[in-house]
Amino acid sequence: MIPTEFTDTFPEEEFIWARPMYEEKIEELSPFLQEAMRRKPCDAVVDVLIEEKNFITRQIVCKLGEKQSSTKQKREELGSLLLQKAHLGNESILLLDFRTLGNEALDLLTGIILSSWRFEQYRTIFKAEEKSHIKKIIVLSNISELLKRDFEPIHAMIQGVFYSKALTSEPPNILYPLAYAERLKELETIGIEVEILHEKDLHTIGMTALLGVGMGSNQPPCVAILKWNGRKDSSNPIVIVGKGVCFDSGGLCLKGPLPQREMKWDKAGAGVVAGLLKSLALNRSPISIIGIIGLVENMPDGKAIKPGDIIKTMSGQTIEIVDTDAEGRLVLADCLWFAQDKFQPKTIIDLGTLTMETFATLGSAYAGLYCNSAQLRSQLEAAGKISGDLVWPLPMGEYYAKQIQSPVADMKNLGVESWGENGAAAEFLRRFVKTIEWAHLDIAGVSWTRTDSKGVTGFGVRLLWDWIQSNLLEIKE
Ligand code: BES
Ligand code: MN
Ligand code: MN
Repeated sequence: MIPTEFTDTFPEEEFIWARPMYEEKIEELSPFLQEAMRRKPCDAVVDVLIEEKNFITRQIVCKLGEKQSSTKQKREELGSLLLQKAHLGNESILLLDFRTLGNEALDLLTGIILSSWRFEQYRTIFKAEEKSHIKKIIVLSNISELLKRDFEPIHAMIQGVFYSKALTSEPPNILYPLAYAERLKELETIGIEVEILHEKDLHTIGMTALLGVGMGSNQPPCVAILKWNGRKDSSNPIVIVGKGVCFDSGGLCLKGPLPQREMKWDKAGAGVVAGLLKSLALNRSPISIIGIIGLVENMPDGKAIKPGDIIKTMSGQTIEIVDTDAEGRLVLADCLWFAQDKFQPKTIIDLGTLTMETFATLGSAYAGLYCNSAQLRSQLEAAGKISGDLVWPLPMGEYYAKQIQSPVADMKNLGVESWGENGAAAEFLRRFVKTIEWAHLDIAGVSWTRTDSKGVTGFGVRLLWDWIQSNLLEIKE
């Protein structure tokens, strides 16, 4: 993360001078800068070199548009454009001149820092233009103390998003289930309790559906439990459950080579849980929250589960396996049950890259939201709009429930008769939810970008962060 300093005095060092401003303020700029902007009417970010007393400085002017129509999202996007431009030079310090802006300047900073994320630890060869030059940001403002204070929670949130992206981006040969859980132990240093349930523990408590998914793999499955106790009273916590399928080959119902290329990202739900808990802990948020992460690899093998198998879940309900590629719901079913059995949560939210159909329905614009409570649904929709991680409610109900009826078991793991498989998956999960508030977020379409090489989005961390900020925090002392 690019280190950031806040000051109200103009610094001495050499830097790129970035000057984001609203339309209304542009006339206060020098005639030269105004002309530079006039000549590039379509560029929101204009980069110029200025010679003054034999000294050349680089200035970047960013057009925020009219103050009235400026939004948080637009400011964040502009921040990302600003950083792209800034990187083109070889200066290492970026001065953000926020003197004409108020508190909303932090949206630009958020956009800049969020867009600086890279996954590069496995690269040893870089072209010159790929190197990132900006090593430090200096925020210049008349209210620098205030901005510094208000940026602290945002900084925690961003670190959670980065953590989530980093975990989800790791290749499956590095972050297989046990390695993932071991990695999470590093969260203990910031006050998160980390407990790992190993394969034998899962046998003892009867998480047979999750174990079943892992049977075709040489890598044993496990479950990670993360606890952040930010309140004295930790009863009835919020529980967030994540699908952590470290690789989804489809199992015996093997996927083709093309879809398999994306399936190292099938652990995105797990990354959201870990990232969210990290941000809350870094922020010392006054909330009691538990993350349950089901980690498993779905592979074909002589020992793998087969279509036709009937397995018993931790809840006691039985499942006829129809398709070994519908594995996410098996993992989540046991994790949901375990979470309720052990922690009596007030609210439970699960996330996973579950169905292609949700992706086909909503594209990458929204995550699919399936929810049994009108209040939770509207809270999550509102948090989606604040955070930019948008969600769209999709239906469950009798029609979908019928699809998973099985003649030989309590349910089957796939609604084969008709379309609407996404609704059937949600109905399947609902069977493992007691009478509490529950939401299922299908993030199959939003967890990674298909259009550029950046890969993971970290979708979900900000959504749940903003949901918590808006609905669950008592006033901080
Ligand atoms: N992890 C996949 C869903 C997925 C596929 C997410 C591609 C993102 C991109 C899930 O386990 C799966 O395989 N779903 C199948 C289920 C089907 C076999 C019933 C699907 O949706 O195609
Ligand atoms: Mn699958
Ligand atoms: Mn999967």
